[in-house]
Amino acid sequence: MMWEQSRVGSNPTGGTTLEKSKSFWGRKIFNFMTKTIKAEWDKIARQWHKEAGEKGLWHQKHDIDPVILKLLGGVKGKKILEIGAGNGYFSRLLAKKGAKVTATDIAPKLISFAQKEEKNNPLSITYLVRNAADIRGVKKKSFDAVIANMCLMDIADAERAVKEASRILKKNGQFIFSVTHPVFADFRQYWTITKQKNKTYFARIVPTYLSSSSEKFTLLISGIKKFKATQYHRSIDTYFTYLKKAGFLVSDFREIATKKPVTKANFKIDGDTSLRRSKYSKVQEKKMKELAGREIPVFLVVGSIKIK
Ligand SMILES: C[S@@+](CC[C@H](N)C(=O)[O-])C[C@H]1O[C@@H](n2cnc3c(N)ncnc32)[C@H](O)[C@@H]1O
Repeated sequence: MMWEQSRVGSNPTGGTTLEKSKSFWGRKIFNFMTKTIKAEWDKIARQWHKEAGEKGLWHQKHDIDPVILKLLGGVKGKKILEIGAGNGYFSRLLAKKGAKVTATDIAPKLISFAQKEEKNNPLSITYLVRNAADIRGVKKKSFDAVIANMCLMDIADAERAVKEASRILKKNGQFIFSVTHPVFADFRQYWTITKQKNKTYFARIVPTYLSSSSEKFTLLISGIKKFKATQYHRSIDTYFTYLKKAGFLVSDFREIATKKPVTKANFKIDGDTSLRRSKYSKVQEKKMKELAGREIPVFLVVGSIKIK
């Protein structure tokens, strides 16, 4: 089970700049993009459900979810809403720990798999098809926590999604989200092997960073050759601005390196040409990759409190 990403025909100087599209199309651009994204995730729903199962993808089970659970603290009796919940495995995990859970996602097919799970093994979870930027029917100030697990970078109007999280949270409620690390693990960047003053480095190239942009990505999921999904790059500054505008104060900021052991580069799953070429044939390359694995955070988990 893996969750690897690679660029498809990527322009490392950054796909479509969101600011430009927004100033040209206004808010209509988000409706259009959201429709496309909904269709993309519906198309992959069956396979995603199979991959995520009841524990999530590898990185979630091992790298991300333990951090989110730690930040959440005790969940017994807490009212928790998850946005972009996918097949709902994380919501089920929370419900099994005693939380009262509502799980939402834009893709009706993904939610239908979750609803089947509820029918077979009831956990009193309410599953709803909702755009995270418009969680209609959910009352304001009605939840203790909102979770966005690896979905804000898939959501077109993430700013509104953060606002909606704030709307439905009670005062002092928690909003916790995880994303691929915008500085170190993003579609605008790639690994390379470089020589400087006779020393070889395994390095990350970051051609652009500050502008928000969208790009089609290939998510490599076992059994599916090419699943193209839209993703958004946003700087950490951008995420902080969304949080501040929505009345949140950041309480936790965790940069997470992966626990995944180094394997030889694999043509099938590794979209990065420089890594393909290297194949870690040299011991030094392997050591560099192990060091990068330990030292370069690939995920970000942010915890925040609604103060206003
Ligand atoms: C990478 S998946 C993560 C799913 C789940 N959180 C997990 O960890 O398995 C991203 C999810 O975001 C959902 N999504 C994308 N745009 C959305 C939107 N505007 N509103 C709600 N969900 C959205 C997709 O349907 C997909 O299920």
